[in-house]
Amino acid sequence: ATEIEADLTEVLVTEQQIHGKLAELARRIEEDYAGRDLLLVGVLKGAVMVMADLARELGSHIAMDWMAVSSYGAGTTSSGVVRILKDLDTDLAGRDVLIVEDIIDSGLTLSWLQANLRSRGAASVEICALLRKPDAAKVDVDVKYLGFDIPNRFVVGYGLDYAERYRNLRDVAILAPHVYS
Ligand code: PRP
Ligand code: MN
Ligand code: MG
Repeated sequence: ATEIEADLTEVLVTEQQIHGKLAELARRIEEDYAGRDLLLVGVLKGAVMVMADLARELGSHIAMDWMAVSSYGAGTTSSGVVRILKDLDTDLAGRDVLIVEDIIDSGLTLSWLQANLRSRGAASVEICALLRKPDAAKVDVDVKYLGFDIPNRFVVGYGLDYAERYRNLRDVAILAPHVYS
């Protein structure tokens, strides 16, 4: 076992499952946005891995931009406070925007972000998220492209962190309680 694996209780979604699912979502996105000028908006920092792999599955022209928002800080539960740490460089007027996220937990980040980007005059603002925790939902998020529903456990890996660590794990796994308790 690697140094990282020693801190995990269980792998929830494997690297292979993630890549299979992103390929499937990419085919749908290519079809839905055929002939349009798609802008992928990645939400730093968690979405870095999803963005990199999803974007490379797409055979069509896309643009990428990034926003940094934060709702968690260093803790394990959502505070409900969404802050913009870094805004987009792109003018969204008339653009077809697809927000790319690693996970929908309470839903507060994405419901706030979708409304925020819509208010900038985009032609469309849809959501692609690799993971969702239905049992943690505080607000409904209309996610058009979803990878996997997962149980309400503290998960890390494939971009998801605990105190900025574990993002480089290839799988999505449950963090062992001894790490954060
Ligand atoms: C995490 C995750 C999502 C958000 C989901 O980001 O990457 O962006 O929380 O939680 P919510 O649905 O309850 O709003 P975080 O704030 O930890 O920042 P990070 O991406 O830099 O890790
Ligand atoms: Mn995030
Ligand atoms: Mg985080």
